Amino acid sequence: MKTIGVLTSGGDAPGMNAAIRAVVRTAMHHNLEVYGIHRGYRGLLEKDYEVLNSRSVSDILQRGGTFIKSARCPEFNTEEGVKKGKKIIMDLALDGLIVIGGDGTIRGGLELANEGVNVIALPGSIDNDMGYTDFTIGFDTAITTVMHAVSNLRDTSSSHGRVFVVQVMGRDCGDIALHAGIICGAEEVIVPEVPFNIEEITSNIRRAMARGKSHYIILLAEGAADPFLFTEKIQELSGINTRLNIIGYLQRGGSPSSFDRMLATRLGFHAVELLVQGEQGVAVGIRGNKVIHKNLQQAIEARDSLDKDLYQMAKILAV
Ligand code: F6P
Repeated sequence: MKTIGVLTSGGDAPGMNAAIRAVVRTAMHHNLEVYGIHRGYRGLLEKDYEVLNSRSVSDILQRGGTFIKSARCPEFNTEEGVKKGKKIIMDLALDGLIVIGGDGTIRGGLELANEGVNVIALPGSIDNDMGYTDFTIGFDTAITTVMHAVSNLRDTSSSHGRVFVVQVMGRDCGDIALHAGIICGAEEVIVPEVPFNIEEITSNIRRAMARGKSHYIILLAEGAADPFLFTEKIQELSGINTRLNIIGYLQRGGSPSSFDRMLATRLGFHAVELLVQGEQGVAVGIRGNKVIHKNLQQAIEARDSLDKDLYQMAKILAV
């Protein structure tokens, strides 16, 4: 094994840079050359890359985003796209490819692995929506960002006795809403995995206000409901002034938390060690604080389900 590639694809996530740094420095340790492929699968198809060395990854551990850039690439969902990608990997004489991103990225990695490319995938997404790993790189930073935002909102919610609906990201997964809801002490957490009843929520609001609560924070996962209609309905049914805040892309940026730096570094290191040992076609993740790897197909198929105990706890504590 002489040369490997690394790319980040799909939505960026804080900690991706830490993972690239670990990949590059571990590869250097094994005397491997590393090509950093720009803009994920899009850059692969355009043969857009740079040679990375230890110095290229100095001073990036603490930075959000991904310095080799990311992109969404619909062309890579086609058979021709994958075949073209495989050809470019052969032209570049890459003996291995480490892909960092969400489920779409891992799927792309599987397609390449099926074409004979030595692929290792790392879970990089704020959504925490991959069932084979306890955590994805970027999730902890994202919920910390939400936590700070909600602390500010709580001040103004209390001052005015208003309800705040806070929409958070996560696509079809409620993990950001649930975890952030717990660490923020939100009064309600609405996730796509559990149906909700708007009348029940509004009567909870009225009861809470009657008991003397001066604020009411509802964390709404993006996949659960249209935030504008939801907010309108809450105000209409509760009769209480209700404001909407969409945190949006703020959640995707920022310096990675200590947890994400550690997770990204461990997974990046492990990915290269696996390649050097001749392992390929796997996704690396974390289970019970142990680094694990799973075959790419199994990693994609692993169902991600909401932690029902955490959800129950959030409900009990939100009185
Ligand atoms: O997967 C990360 C994520 O931020 C989701 O939470 C969100 O639904 C989506 O990406 C937004 O995608 P885009 O960057 O294409 O707007």
